[in-house]
Amino acid sequence: MPPTEETGLLTHIDGVDEGTVRRKTVTRAVVRGTLLVVFAVALAVVLLYNDLGELAGKLPKDPHKAAAVLLDQAPVIDGHIDLPELIRTVYANNASAVELDKPTRGHVDIPRIRKGKLGGFFWSVYVDCPSDAGEEFINATWRVRDTLEQIDISHQLIEKYRETFELTLTAADITSAISRGKVASLLGVEGGHQLGNSLGVLRTYYALGVRYMTLTHVCHNAFADSSGLFTGIEPLHHGLSPLGEALVYEMNRLGMLVDLSHTSDDTALQALNISRAPVIFSHSAARALHDIPRNVPDEVLKKVGTGPGQQDGVVMVNFYPAFVSDHPDEADVSTVADHIDYIASVTSRKHVGIGSDYDGIETTPIGLEDVSKYPALIAELYIRGWGKRDLAGLTGANLLRVKAGAEQVALQMAREGALPAADIYEKRPDLPSRRDH
Ligand SMILES: *[C@@H]1O[C@H](CO)[C@@H](O)[C@H](O)[C@H]1NC(C)=O
Ligand SMILES: *[C@@H]1O[C@H](CO)[C@@H](O)[C@H](O)[C@H]1NC(C)=O
Ligand SMILES: *[C@@H]1O[C@H](CO)[C@@H](O)[C@H](O)[C@H]1NC(C)=O
Repeated sequence: MPPTEETGLLTHIDGVDEGTVRRKTVTRAVVRGTLLVVFAVALAVVLLYNDLGELAGKLPKDPHKAAAVLLDQAPVIDGHIDLPELIRTVYANNASAVELDKPTRGHVDIPRIRKGKLGGFFWSVYVDCPSDAGEEFINATWRVRDTLEQIDISHQLIEKYRETFELTLTAADITSAISRGKVASLLGVEGGHQLGNSLGVLRTYYALGVRYMTLTHVCHNAFADSSGLFTGIEPLHHGLSPLGEALVYEMNRLGMLVDLSHTSDDTALQALNISRAPVIFSHSAARALHDIPRNVPDEVLKKVGTGPGQQDGVVMVNFYPAFVSDHPDEADVSTVADHIDYIASVTSRKHVGIGSDYDGIETTPIGLEDVSKYPALIAELYIRGWGKRDLAGLTGANLLRVKAGAEQVALQMAREGALPAADIYEKRPDLPSRRDH
């Protein structure tokens, strides 16, 4: 929500059992099972997002018809929607009071989700940066409680509207949910400040279904430096701290996506360099088109890819007018398409996605007012010559590739016997120093 950009119940707990990746030894049966799952995911992705069934070859000429046909086969998976924050600030987390089957005050409700052909999204379980943590982040804050409440309200709403939503954990879950007409629902934590400096808290969030974490929000934290928002902020760690490097390792080991939106350039470059798994930028635009620190510079975009010295990833473009345009009042569908086109020109069309930031932004571009409007963006890119494969990559296949890639890295690390990171924040006064033992 202003002036910063963003100022559902486990349907079944055993669904979280994917944490088996932590096992030190993996039997052959599991390996075989894994290969099968990877194959199944690949097949489902191909069927849903690439071949587009019997439509092989052509989409209708009319761009709006083409967008509708494309999205029926390859609906949008949005990297960042702040619905849980709206529920917190407007409804004080009373799930009974929330009526998502009717028009809401925000950008998101079920009728508009269906109209816009939104097939899945990351529910951002965001809470803001603390002002009372102190310079070394060691003062107690309520951020872990508040994050747990955000996770809880997301679980409650996913359960309340279980005819529509389904909590999904893996790439295979996402494609399965979408193929059954459900809206795949994933959880993402928006900043290391939500961890209470603790990798144990990270693992616990994973166990509750969280599948990405943004390394920072608009503040530095014990793990990494933030970019700030519209003006830069003085670096603290100059990228990742040693604890931040342990955090990236642990996220790779768990199979939780490392999200580099909001991070400083140094944090992003270092994380791209050390992460074994593909990364995401869940909601970021291009700095070359609008020069603010919050946007991703070319230097970072050039490290996203599958060539030497690069890491696979997907940059999911933010819609916020103040991020995408020097003249926010005039920002429209075409402005957002420009960012997608630009990021694709520096990386490729395999590395772009959509991360609207709906319900976390106080204004929206003309023509992209809410979740019912994704088809307008697809139509615009179709007019610009994007083919169905490119468009299906943008709407979801690129994210699914990256998500499945991170899951494979976690399995590989489990096979190698990678242990949970036991690192502790060295400034913590409440635990014995490891050197004493
Ligand atoms: C929650 O919302 C419901 C429906 O509006 C209302 O009946 C109930 O009193 C609310 N609960 C609390 C504790 O405010
Ligand atoms: C952090 O805690 C210390 C000790 O209680 C207190 O003196 C200090 O004011 C706190 N810092 C902030 C920023 O609240
Ligand atoms: C990348 O990481 C390696 C060690 O893993 C290090 O030697 C190198 O300097 C890093 N490069 C950058 C650009 O951070």
